[in-house]
Amino acid sequence: MTAPLLEIENLRTYFYSRSKQAFIRAVDGVTLSIARGETLGVVGESGSGKSVTALSITGLVSAGPGVISGAIVFRADGVEHNLLQDLEQYVRLKERDGRIVEASKDEPGWRKAVERLMAPVRGKEIAMIFQSPKSALNPFARVGDQITEAIRLHTRAKGPGEAKERALHWLERVKIDSPRLRFENHPYGLSGGMCQRAVIAMALASEPSLLIADEPTTGLDATIQSEIVGLLAELKAEFGIATLLISHDIRAISRLADNVAVMYGGTVVEHGPAPDVLASRFAPKHPYTTALLASIPSVQNVRDKGYLTVVEGEVPDAVDLPRGCRFYARCNRVTDDVRDKCAQHEPELQEVMPGHHVRCWLYAE
Ligand SMILES: Nc1ncnc2c1ncn2[C@@H]1O[C@H](COP(=O)(O)OP(=O)(O)O)[C@@H](O)[C@H]1O
Ligand code: SF4
Ligand SMILES: [Mg+2]
Repeated sequence: MTAPLLEIENLRTYFYSRSKQAFIRAVDGVTLSIARGETLGVVGESGSGKSVTALSITGLVSAGPGVISGAIVFRADGVEHNLLQDLEQYVRLKERDGRIVEASKDEPGWRKAVERLMAPVRGKEIAMIFQSPKSALNPFARVGDQITEAIRLHTRAKGPGEAKERALHWLERVKIDSPRLRFENHPYGLSGGMCQRAVIAMALASEPSLLIADEPTTGLDATIQSEIVGLLAELKAEFGIATLLISHDIRAISRLADNVAVMYGGTVVEHGPAPDVLASRFAPKHPYTTALLASIPSVQNVRDKGYLTVVEGEVPDAVDLPRGCRFYARCNRVTDDVRDKCAQHEPELQEVMPGHHVRCWLYAE
């Protein structure tokens, strides 16, 4: 078996809150991997740590004393990159009575180290698409020139003529309306949907090994959303680029993802083949996944229940994560057999079927 393209091992990304004198545990023990050609869908409510996971992979975690630990290994072109190598040396923690009372960081040193680690991969081997496509483009440069520049920077097509031809090809490939005209446009001349197509063209034009798409359709009109999902499905079939797809749109995830990871409170609570994780009748399943699936406003749900359900309760406070299972306060499947364990101890991610893992005491050996 070949090694995965991306391996994330026990990733923890914390932000220090001076006022609370505590860490915001945005990502708290994420282990995931992506194989070549695989699309991994990541779902979970807002605040569960999806975006911070993506930012940690791409070295874009910014705010002040943010601390990242664990390992992120990315393999491309026969080279193994440890994307977090030696970063912890730039952070100093001061503890008093078992509490961290101060966290300081050599921000310039950290930034420099991150840039050194990311230089060979970001934009070239790992391309990103975010929620707001306009902010991904330079407002002062023509769309076509930006794509041409990415091609010259990241691929073998170095000559301006050749790179421009490639850029036009990519604009056509993402089916942007009037590609030659759009090439000349500045981003403000493009609609939100067109901008997202241009950003996708720019991402693919760099011929990356991994695409990270964080809520790529959020904020677009419903019709445009489904067009973009359709485009991503076509591109997946044609190019098979490994993709980390973060979306709260479970229908998009079920159309595009091979495997799905469900995140809750900064960690992964279920991970397995998309058809199994997303099938509401498939058991074993994490109680949170069940609740999340029940919250999708499907025609069937509305017909069965006569109303739309949402997952009751709130996501746990990332400053004060519970000691036991992070879902305990909202879980409706706790039995007397497991109650104490649920309250006191965090369950491990257990393999419940080949390739399918669930973090819940109900399925622990
Ligand atoms: N730069 C930051 N500084 C402090 N807290 C942050 C920062 N970025 C994210 N967080 C917190 O981390 C948690 C996870 O955020 P995020 O990954 O954006 O969630 P998601 O993408 O799943 O909605 C949230 O509680 C959020 O408030
Ligand atoms: S471990 Fe307990 S509280 Fe957590 S999801 Fe399972 S049953 Fe619910
Ligand atoms: Mg997010």
